[in-house]
Amino acid sequence: MSSNGIAGEIEVVPDKSISHRALMISSVSDGTSRIKNFLRADDCISTMNCLRNLGVDIHDKDDEIIVRGSNLELKGPQKVLDAGNSGTTVRLLSGILAGQKFATKITGDESLSKRPMKRITAPLEKMGAQIKSNNGYLPIEVKGGRLKPVDYNSEISSAQVKSCVLFAGLYANGITSFTEPCKSRDHTERMLKNFGAEVSVVKNRVSVKGIAKLHSSDIYIPGDISAAAFFMVAAVINRNSELRIKNVGINPTRTGIIDVLKRMGAKISIEHKKEIAGEPLADIIIEFSDLKSTEINKNEIPLLIDEIPVIAVAATQAHGTTKISGAGELRVKETDRLKAVSSELKKMGADIEEFEDGLAIKGPVKLKGAKVDSFNDHRMAMSLAVASLIAEGDAEILNKECVNISFPSFFETMKKIVK
Ligand code: S3P
Repeated sequence: MSSNGIAGEIEVVPDKSISHRALMISSVSDGTSRIKNFLRADDCISTMNCLRNLGVDIHDKDDEIIVRGSNLELKGPQKVLDAGNSGTTVRLLSGILAGQKFATKITGDESLSKRPMKRITAPLEKMGAQIKSNNGYLPIEVKGGRLKPVDYNSEISSAQVKSCVLFAGLYANGITSFTEPCKSRDHTERMLKNFGAEVSVVKNRVSVKGIAKLHSSDIYIPGDISAAAFFMVAAVINRNSELRIKNVGINPTRTGIIDVLKRMGAKISIEHKKEIAGEPLADIIIEFSDLKSTEINKNEIPLLIDEIPVIAVAATQAHGTTKISGAGELRVKETDRLKAVSSELKKMGADIEEFEDGLAIKGPVKLKGAKVDSFNDHRMAMSLAVASLIAEGDAEILNKECVNISFPSFFETMKKIVK
């Protein structure tokens, strides 16, 4: 689809990271929690199915999800759990499973089976869980029991690993701490506090007190800034565009995309700021802007980890060379995103160089339509769709149905605002 600009007002899907956490934390709290604006997309449905298989009573009404928590202790699994495509499901849930008396086996799809799990099995084993894995990959089997607290120093900045350790810490008698090189998204810390856990944060170190008792809570999930990112870039690179994206989560551990686009010269404003259930949200207004290149290094990567593919699309339209470094983690996402961004945008005419831990993108170039592959990676499919809006000629995106992983209504939303 190519366009003559983008205009209007949209809401994007609810936040994926917060939706996973809402289900998991309310499942191990004591009482009934109501989740409003939950993301009904494949990844979060994987989490819901796994929790149901572990005996949690989850009722999906149209306007809310009602979870009857079981006060830390889950029932044994009825079968092998399937995390599908979702790294967040397997990594976060393993922290909770490490506190259970029974053993649980988890599998996933082809992509998830290639993603590293040692990053979570190592700290969980330190805490006393017994884990079998396929040499650090799925399937894994987690047998929990009495855990001891750890003071864990992680080599990588990862909200998934951090959340896994904090969840296990709920079951360990004493203070469990997790330190990471740069601060990653902090939704787990915020939500655990809201459910009554004792959590303290000092710079990049988070601590939780176990054995915890969580009370139930009601949650409203803001719009996903990682979903909004596709439309922010679509508007900023398309002439004659002005777009308002309503009720987007603007947690400062997620807003790297806004800082980067502003640095590149984007005209962005934030209106109607408010806070619900410990998470800030606002409207984002963005219009077509003449962009210049920027540099993104490892300190900033955790704040925009999922936005690099679409930032690369913006960089193809910026004057100068945009350099992204310290982004090696992108090689172990749903696909190798550094390789995929480079190969597929090149097919559309982009001038990109791929490095071990980053990319250099020279612009501006006129993109052209081509047959490109998402490699079944939802964020690749949506980034390529954004690129196709400014391409001369038609682009064909293979395996674009994978948007269902995080944003089932992506193409309908796009149709609504393309002039
Ligand atoms: C997520 C954390 C990030 C992100 C992923 C979701 C989360 O992964 O890429 O899409 O919900 O905690 P890492 O924390 O492993 O970088």
